[in-house]
Amino acid sequence: MAGKITRRTFAQTAGAAAVGAAFGRRPAPRTRGESIAAADPVTFPRGFLWGTATAAYQVEGAAAEDGRRPSVWDTFSHTPGKTANGATGDVANNHYHLYEGDVQLMKALGVKAYRFSIAWPRVLPDGDGQPNPKGFDFYNRLVDELLANDIQPFATLYHWDLPQSLQVRVGGWESRETSKAFAEYAGLVAKRLSDRVKHIFTINEFGAFVELGYRVGIHAPGLQLPAGRFNQTRHHAVLGHGLAVQAIRANAAANTKVGLAENMTICVPVIESKEHVGAAVRATREVNAPYMTVIQEGKYTDAYLANAGAAAPKFTPEDLTAISSPLDFVGINIYTPMYVRADSNPLGYATVPHPGSFPHMASPWLFIGPEALYWGPRHLANIWGTKEIYITENGCSSSDIPAGDGRVYDTDRIMYLRNYLTQLQRATSDGVPVRGYFLWSLMDNFEWADGYTNRFGIHYVDYATQKRTPKLSADFYREVIARNAVL
Ligand code: FCB
Repeated sequence: MAGKITRRTFAQTAGAAAVGAAFGRRPAPRTRGESIAAADPVTFPRGFLWGTATAAYQVEGAAAEDGRRPSVWDTFSHTPGKTANGATGDVANNHYHLYEGDVQLMKALGVKAYRFSIAWPRVLPDGDGQPNPKGFDFYNRLVDELLANDIQPFATLYHWDLPQSLQVRVGGWESRETSKAFAEYAGLVAKRLSDRVKHIFTINEFGAFVELGYRVGIHAPGLQLPAGRFNQTRHHAVLGHGLAVQAIRANAAANTKVGLAENMTICVPVIESKEHVGAAVRATREVNAPYMTVIQEGKYTDAYLANAGAAAPKFTPEDLTAISSPLDFVGINIYTPMYVRADSNPLGYATVPHPGSFPHMASPWLFIGPEALYWGPRHLANIWGTKEIYITENGCSSSDIPAGDGRVYDTDRIMYLRNYLTQLQRATSDGVPVRGYFLWSLMDNFEWADGYTNRFGIHYVDYATQKRTPKLSADFYREVIARNAVL
């Protein structure tokens, strides 16, 4: 395909010149640049899986329907002052009722996979105990609809909507009881859905819900724990992941694959020289010590434990074995880089803060560093030998103001995606085993504490009418998928 397009463009130019010559005419003067053939699109490996992603609380709505009970995010978003403009996920995109149309949006894009999350409080309303059949009915309908449209379901078990009942009864992830309840829930979902859902992610982004929810306090449940209790919470989260992997293996149908979707900090060398690349590798293990590193290595790094001192987490050898249960694949959510340089300090690296002028997208935290999409998967493959990698989220917010014709011409999002995908292609052509990419997000949705102010979708959502309109970036993504290439 790549060669054909170039040859065809080239032949057309050459053909026009030949016609002019045969009739003794001078070829028409060319506009500057016209004679340059289109660049070869950079292609992805055959069978590369293109998808989109969402999460339950961000899109479903129907918060009190069919037996769903509150999650910590219902409680948090209904607490005055916690979200922009007091926004909640009560209705969100009403995906619970509009999912069939949303599957058609995906079909029109040509995606072959959809990453969604299952709302724990919908299927096990109190976090443990009695399952809710109507909750499972919804996911059965959704999965069947996806499969009928030739779209593979990739399900995340925990995208931050912890049943409020567990928060009240045991203190949420501060308690090992939540790790155990999560495993019970994971086993139950595996039993009910793995006949059709062949890829399951345990937890989405430890690095976000634990840090922002239990230390910084700007996400549910809104706590600011002291170091010791906080490190123990981190430990219970990775333990919950490990116990869930075991429960899924014990309950799932054959050929069900298990992984996670982590926003590991992506250490990008400031310059791609040997010394800075070495520093980025060392930094990757250390800055991800409480999550990805312990999951991969079954051990907290010495520096992490020494640095935490008396506040280090308490754990048993069995915990570490569970946490490092082998995975079938690893998913990473990648938005932004952390730059790292070599240093002569004992750690052998230093992080480099973004200068004030560093460009970012509409969300102030979203610094534009396309190389993150190269280095993230490369570090996974290089440091831990990961054999199957998915980019489980990547995308950006943009101001997204509809033009007079009602369309959103989000050229900045296209610029972002084009540059990031070019770096992802570079990783695949280096032989890094990235199998698929899930664009965040299929459509604008409830962006946590930012409410509905930051839009990440490639479909614009008018929340008053629930109308979805493809943005220009949806056209771009459709082309990328059709050609399996960055254009
Ligand atoms: C990620 C979250 C996802 C969404 C994007 C923008 O951290 O996993 O739910 O909010 O950021």
